Amino acid sequence: HFSDSGKVTWKAPSNIALVKYWGKLANQIPANPSISFTLDTCATTTSVAYQKREDGKDGFSFDLLFEGKPKEDFKPKIETFFKRIEFYVPFLKDYHFTIETSNSFPHSSGIASSASGMAALSLCLLDVEKQLNPEMNEKFFKKKASFLARLGSGSACRSIEGDLIQWGEHPNIPDSSNLYGIKYPFEVNPVFKNYHDTILLVHKGQKQVSSTVGHDLMHGHPYAQNRFQQAFGNLDKFKSIFAGGDLEEFIKMVESEALTLHAMMMTSMPYFILMKPDTLEIINKIWKYRTDTKVPICFTLDAGANVHVLYPESVKEKAIQFIQDELVVHCEKGHYICDRIGMGAKII
Ligand code: PMV
Repeated sequence: HFSDSGKVTWKAPSNIALVKYWGKLANQIPANPSISFTLDTCATTTSVAYQKREDGKDGFSFDLLFEGKPKEDFKPKIETFFKRIEFYVPFLKDYHFTIETSNSFPHSSGIASSASGMAALSLCLLDVEKQLNPEMNEKFFKKKASFLARLGSGSACRSIEGDLIQWGEHPNIPDSSNLYGIKYPFEVNPVFKNYHDTILLVHKGQKQVSSTVGHDLMHGHPYAQNRFQQAFGNLDKFKSIFAGGDLEEFIKMVESEALTLHAMMMTSMPYFILMKPDTLEIINKIWKYRTDTKVPICFTLDAGANVHVLYPESVKEKAIQFIQDELVVHCEKGHYICDRIGMGAKII
């Protein structure tokens, strides 16, 4: 039996995709497989206090506090999420939940918090369920947490564990699934173990295109089928890159994926340009620096103007110096976040 009340807290990280998820089918099933580095510093901490309901009413009952203050505009998102997961979390209507959430990164920094946020909330709800079923083993817990997180925001299913997570059925990746993320099952060269991601905040504030709208743009998109196939092929190519640690090939793949994501948006109807002039300046400077110095530093992008600068531990000093000397001027108010590959969510 549940106790009538209690509280659980989880901290879940963000993640950055190397092969991008862009396009989905019904029930949050991805149109193509993807893979990401789990991050470390950028994270959401969520606590869920639960209290047995006596009000006899139907529907969900919850309060939401974001960074200590009530947040009404997040509520419809949570409501939709609850509806999607209700079948898998049957006690949802029996309790009143007080959800308190905060991000490690500044509010409206242009960093999407849906992955870390949905991952943290899923872990909290599942932890409540675990009290009903204390036998639930660790492996199942992680899998189901990822499954629930996917129903909140697709990429959130890659934010439960670290450090390299693959999501989406792929014929050559054993145990890959459309329903949850898995730890990348093949050999990974140590060069990828301490990878850095310095996030340049080029443009803070609301995203121009929500990911819901973005995924929808792939329906009837003239290049969609080719793009989905390309993602399957890129995951195959990554297998030997991850094993061998060929950074030149890694960089080609990562940058091509980022630009392809943006190309899909530029060629959809309606069409969007999500880069800003500073995004392009940064990309050009990275290319020039890499040509001049041979330092293996590269970029990737999400569905926005911010730039993720990726580099291995071995060039950390040089990369930071270059970023500070040449790239930070392109950040809004000079803001950037030093993050790195991380090991996944933690109970607090
Ligand atoms: O999880 P969503 O629905 O917000 O989609 C995220 C899509 C990208 O961040 C652009 C790519 C990815 O794989 O994370």
